[in-house]
Amino acid sequence: MSDLVETSAKDGILTIRMNRPDKKNALTMAMYEDMAKAIKDADKNPDIRVVMITGSGDSFCAGNDLQDFISNPPKNEKSSPVLAFLEAISEAKVPLVAAVNGTAVGIGVTMLLHCDFVYVAKDAPMSLPFVNLGLVPEAGASLLLPRLAGHAKAAELLMLGEPFTAQTALEIGIANKLCETADVEATALKTAKKLASKPREALVETKSLLKREFESVAKRIDEEAKVFKKCLESADCKEALTAFKEKRKPKFN
Ligand code: COA
Repeated sequence: MSDLVETSAKDGILTIRMNRPDKKNALTMAMYEDMAKAIKDADKNPDIRVVMITGSGDSFCAGNDLQDFISNPPKNEKSSPVLAFLEAISEAKVPLVAAVNGTAVGIGVTMLLHCDFVYVAKDAPMSLPFVNLGLVPEAGASLLLPRLAGHAKAAELLMLGEPFTAQTALEIGIANKLCETADVEATALKTAKKLASKPREALVETKSLLKREFESVAKRIDEEAKVFKKCLESADCKEALTAFKEKRKPKFN
């Protein structure tokens, strides 16, 4: 486990903390690997009843590390750390509670679509800027977001890729509750503790029944990954990533 992802277990709750605050907790391949392993291990461990995910510093997660997109592009196989993480989070057996302590971008938002309880700092800026990078949604967001928010709102968030507020996340059903930044983790922990006091098997079965259609989500994640990989190789995406590195606006053809 790299020190960019911290895990700690207490009272049946495994806390996973993305810990790369200087880069707004942008996820590298090693971080995806660590998070996938932590969630999969929790599922197998009868002592763990709940997983809580949060970030350090002022951000929850600024999405995939954009430099890693260039130097370490995700592969289309199940062995890719990104797909391993998506599989772990979308098929997790134990309840997942997210404490969104600040900025959430890209997978920092789409991972929330797989969490069961989501508490968000009321000032946290969010965005799904895939299209602005010449990319497409991942993590099953192209299926889950329209299902949650309706086509019109999903198109707005995914096709314009503009920042949106925590209030919008609450209104469309991504979040359960908004909190003061200082209270997010404590609020999430309170729910995690309530869940941890319940019978594990009944919780796991309830979650499984709520998510019965996950097979179609798994299929969509695979389909998205294929298109995502193709887009990642496009001239537009290369321009967007280079522009980010050079701190300038991209120029698309
Ligand atoms: N990948 C790699 N580095 C990232 C990153 C990412 N996804 N997001 C932020 N960082 C880095 C910045 O490059 C910067 O590094 P530096 O200090 O070495 O220059 C540092 O984190 C702080 O980011 P900065 O942009 O200065 O902070 P901000 O508060 O002004 O803006 C964000 C925060 C998240 C809105 C902005 O950094 C951003 O848009 N990041 C890209 C998000 C993205 O497109 N993710 C991929 C989605 S698919």
